[in-house]
Amino acid sequence: MQSVIRVDLGPQSYDITIASGGLDELGTQIGALNLGKKVLVVSNQMIFRHYGEKAIASLQKAGFEVASHILPVGEQYKTLTGLQRIYNSALEHRLERSSTIIALGGGVVGDMAGFAAATWLRGINVVQVPTSLLAMVDASIGGKTGVNHPQGKNLIGAFHQPRLVLIDPEVLKTLPPRELRAGMAEVIKYGVIWDAELFAQLEKCKRLDQMRYFPADLLPEILSKSCQAKADVVSKDEKESGLRAILNYGHTIGHAIESVTGYKVVNHGEGVAIGMVAASGLAVELGMWDSECDRRQLALIQKAGLPIKLPSGLDIEEILETLQTDKKVQDSKVRFILPTQIGVVTITDRVTADVIRLVLGRMG
Ligand code: GLY
Repeated sequence: MQSVIRVDLGPQSYDITIASGGLDELGTQIGALNLGKKVLVVSNQMIFRHYGEKAIASLQKAGFEVASHILPVGEQYKTLTGLQRIYNSALEHRLERSSTIIALGGGVVGDMAGFAAATWLRGINVVQVPTSLLAMVDASIGGKTGVNHPQGKNLIGAFHQPRLVLIDPEVLKTLPPRELRAGMAEVIKYGVIWDAELFAQLEKCKRLDQMRYFPADLLPEILSKSCQAKADVVSKDEKESGLRAILNYGHTIGHAIESVTGYKVVNHGEGVAIGMVAASGLAVELGMWDSECDRRQLALIQKAGLPIKLPSGLDIEEILETLQTDKKVQDSKVRFILPTQIGVVTITDRVTADVIRLVLGRMG
């Protein structure tokens, strides 16, 4: 299976190549872009153990001068301190303006490596090689890069488009089931915000919590439809001046939950799943979407083995406070992405703290 999806951004356009066994082609794929010969592979300990050798062998075979930088595993390391260490490696290996940082890993690796590339020497090339479902369908596409601030997720960052996104679905075989489920939250998101056909396809599946239960054609469909949705949205609004904000469906409350619980209780996808349940509840309360659609979304989230309740002991007032530091705040108003029908969402700042209290209060 091989498919290529174009992210159309004028001179910054690039391909998302989805190819089984594509990791073996990493060197030739980057070689075809005519970039400089020095590359720095940024990965984490676990991913590098599985795929580092293969990636490096492919790059060396294509004539690249390869160095690597290995991060510890976990969102808690997505900090300025972690970033500083990547800069140290870039300096040690004398990366140049024409050099490329290759992000081999999940969302944390992609965000950090992308931000290092955005800022080192005022910007060098980055190639995203996502290894988690979540990174494949979301984080690796669209150029959002950054690190967390103790007060909130991704508060420090930059837009920096990759030169290529190379997706090898084979690597998902070693993805822990919890991470697969986290990625499914983003896939369900695309069904709700953009692609009603994808939503219907997911509804037909018996189980979405483990890959071994997927019908044979589901994974390629999930990857190409989700990447296409993301490419469509980003091509229309690269810097999130309007439409792109819809990709944050479920993320407003999701990010707040992640932040309030210190990034230790729920992972990003789980936060998004709970956030989508909350957003759907808010939309029902505001009379924007019907309770049948709410039920259908809830059923999909449950089928993917994702949480639908708030983590126990969570203080709703703390969530409300954290929402104020979210990047989606504009003129002191929190903007919510709320669904109106399957495949369509709208952006609103009309959600009051009382409605949020009511909906979250039911989700304990
Ligand atoms: N993950 C949301 C975006 O890329 O805009």
